[in-house]
Amino acid sequence: MTLNRNYEPKPRFVERIKLLLDNEDDVNKFFEVAKTCGKKSIRVNTLKISPEELVIRLKNKGWKINQPFPHYPEIVQIDSILQPGELGKATEHILGYYYVQEITSMMPIIALQPKDDDILLDLCASPGSKTTQAAAMMDNKGTILANDLNIGRISILSANLERCSVTNTILTRHDGLELCAKLKKSKTRMKFDKILVDAPCSGEGNIRCSPRTYVEWSESLLENFGKRQKKLASKALELLKENGEMIYSTCTHSPEENESVVQYLLDNYDIKILPITLPIKTRPGISKWKNETFHPDLKHAYRIYHHDNDMEGFFLCKIKKLSDNKKGEEK
Ligand SMILES: C[S@@+](CC[C@H](N)C(=O)[O-])C[C@H]1O[C@@H](n2cnc3c(N)ncnc32)[C@H](O)[C@@H]1O
Repeated sequence: MTLNRNYEPKPRFVERIKLLLDNEDDVNKFFEVAKTCGKKSIRVNTLKISPEELVIRLKNKGWKINQPFPHYPEIVQIDSILQPGELGKATEHILGYYYVQEITSMMPIIALQPKDDDILLDLCASPGSKTTQAAAMMDNKGTILANDLNIGRISILSANLERCSVTNTILTRHDGLELCAKLKKSKTRMKFDKILVDAPCSGEGNIRCSPRTYVEWSESLLENFGKRQKKLASKALELLKENGEMIYSTCTHSPEENESVVQYLLDNYDIKILPITLPIKTRPGISKWKNETFHPDLKHAYRIYHHDNDMEGFFLCKIKKLSDNKKGEEK
């Protein structure tokens, strides 16, 4: 197992993790696992091949693999040590038979469960892990509007959609806030059955594979992300149909970017938080951070720590819109 020893967390990062976790052992485990790399994982692209067929092909290549969740045979972990780039260069990858994706990153679409007649907005979609996963779950039916701000990342998204034979997806390149404003003002007043806001974030959950996060990390960075996330999530929520469902997710642990954002939505919109059943170990959303006390239903938001599952860290929350009513003025 490769060790990422070159980067060290800042003292304030360590203090905050201590506040979030249960006890000293928990904290020690968090930082020990942070120095290691997790197993590689892939998601079978069921638009092109069945899990059974792909598993046979991969085993025939000599790869040791396992399918850790009986209910999700498309989720495959690679137990063999592969050469750098080998997963991406494999014929089966080029043919679009699988998508290289961290298991925790598969959880938002598992939680959202898009159906084949849904209209889905994926507001921050590049490079397309979750768009391609949703398209497969929808069997290329329904419609996905996949948007991202970054043109370079949109090109990768576009290539991934083509490689995976996704045909139910419209691509746009907009600032998510502008896109939401345009759609809200449009004559058709387009609204969505389901929305994913997989928000740009500080990436604290990715420190195992991206330890440089430690270098860029600061509390003001978290606060700035929090402000942007509140705007993106609330403007997206305004495009959700009544009784529609939205997932808000990040790959970070900071409450400023997680519970605080969901609390902001609860304060301003007529929504409720829905519990979800996920196949990996999760911890409930926290109830208090600094001077902020969160709604008790935030226990149904999910914190995923890398040392609980030997995966990456993540946060997600499923929100149901009860009505278009807004509570008071926006902050
Ligand atoms: C966490 S990544 C999304 C990952 C993607 N959902 C996936 O599963 O492959 C966040 C994305 O948000 C995009 N982004 C950043 N600011 C944005 C904005 N204002 N509007 C739309 N997208 C934005 C970034 O370019 C980045 O691709």
